[in-house]
Amino acid sequence: MTNRTKQGLATRALHAGWRSDPATGAFGLPIYLTAAYQFRDSEHAVRLFELEEEGHLYSRLSNPTVAAYEAAVADLEGGVGALATSSGQAAFTHLLAALCSAGDHLVVSRKLYGGTLTLVKNTFARFGVTHTLVDTDEPDQVEGACTPATRAILTETVGNPALNVAPLEELGRIARARDAVLVVDNTFPTPCLCRPIEWGAHVVVHSTTKFLSGQGNVIGGMVVDGGTMDWKASGRWPLLTQPDPSYHGVVFSDRFGPAALAAKLRATLLRDLGGTPSAFDSYLLRQSLGTLPLRMARHSENALTVARYLQDHRQIDWVRYPGLDSHPQRERAKRYLPDGCGGMVACGIRGGVEAGRRFLDALELFGHMANLGDSRSLAIHPASTTHSQLTREERLAGGIEDGLIRLSVGLEDPRDLVEDLDRAFSAAR
Ligand SMILES: Cc1ncc(COP(=O)(O)O)c(C=O)c1O
Repeated sequence: MTNRTKQGLATRALHAGWRSDPATGAFGLPIYLTAAYQFRDSEHAVRLFELEEEGHLYSRLSNPTVAAYEAAVADLEGGVGALATSSGQAAFTHLLAALCSAGDHLVVSRKLYGGTLTLVKNTFARFGVTHTLVDTDEPDQVEGACTPATRAILTETVGNPALNVAPLEELGRIARARDAVLVVDNTFPTPCLCRPIEWGAHVVVHSTTKFLSGQGNVIGGMVVDGGTMDWKASGRWPLLTQPDPSYHGVVFSDRFGPAALAAKLRATLLRDLGGTPSAFDSYLLRQSLGTLPLRMARHSENALTVARYLQDHRQIDWVRYPGLDSHPQRERAKRYLPDGCGGMVACGIRGGVEAGRRFLDALELFGHMANLGDSRSLAIHPASTTHSQLTREERLAGGIEDGLIRLSVGLEDPRDLVEDLDRAFSAAR
């Protein structure tokens, strides 16, 4: 045996969260298709309902298949607990509802995925949670936007689709000084390429629909509690540190220690909002996790090949990929993404939106759709699709030029990808 405290990521991606079924010995993770669970007796029922004993009581709150998947992702991200949700949007919704009440404030990267921005700008604004949009690449802007009401700073490790790289360590420092929560959407790198909690994030969010799945067959989300927030220190987190009247006076920080947020999310937010994933989807996602390290290495290799090809192409105005020396935050990428920069590439085609349309229509191998992170390569024009509900000014401020094409580079033979891009460029000419 070695004296390492933890097994390697590739080992944990295969083994974490599940050994075998205690009842049958089944080595494969069973899909527990059940809505509820038989109580041992009335005392057991009461103890479960009062959170005095761990266990499953109703599948809106927890399910053994889902729990195995949650434990695996928490392990890979280095968190103390996780909550799987029915989508990435549901993950943010449950998290923000746990952290914020009317009158609270968020500091939000203006380069977030469009859906996260609309959630903050429309739904949470309607509930009285205000926000300031900033460039989280610039720590000074973040610092300047914080107010005494700020509860959280929201950023993506690598922005969708601007591909900016967040200064995680600096953001963590600002959040700690303000007793605010640094929330990092780690969908693009996955824990194989970056683990934001190690850099100071308190909470990690995923759209598991993307690389964590890799198969384009499931919609899902995840919130990982880093266990690094001292909820009690400032007295400004009563929802976690004061008796919860909706839960027989449970004090989450006392009962669950560092995993207070994960417990709160499950016991009250999932109870009330109900964005629960299915056992079947969680089974599929757990299966996918086993190959994640291999896939992310290949995504990164293929994306770098594609980015270099684009960089030299005369029909391209610009290319953005954190693995290229031309990327404005290349040094930051080397620090936070030392094992590869992931599968996403952005570029601007000469000839603007019209040329971009012809290009997309001519692609044969790349799928043209509103998804990313699939093992098969995909492409899209964000300004007219994923980010079309933002104004043009908001898009430009978020680094989304009108002609930006987003490529999600898959695991195919890279020569075939380049051939497909060549064909599309000819059509776009
Ligand atoms: C970075 C990022 N976060 C969150 C989401 C929302 O996830 P979902 O579509 O699974 O609800 C997306 C969706 O594209 C995304 O790209």
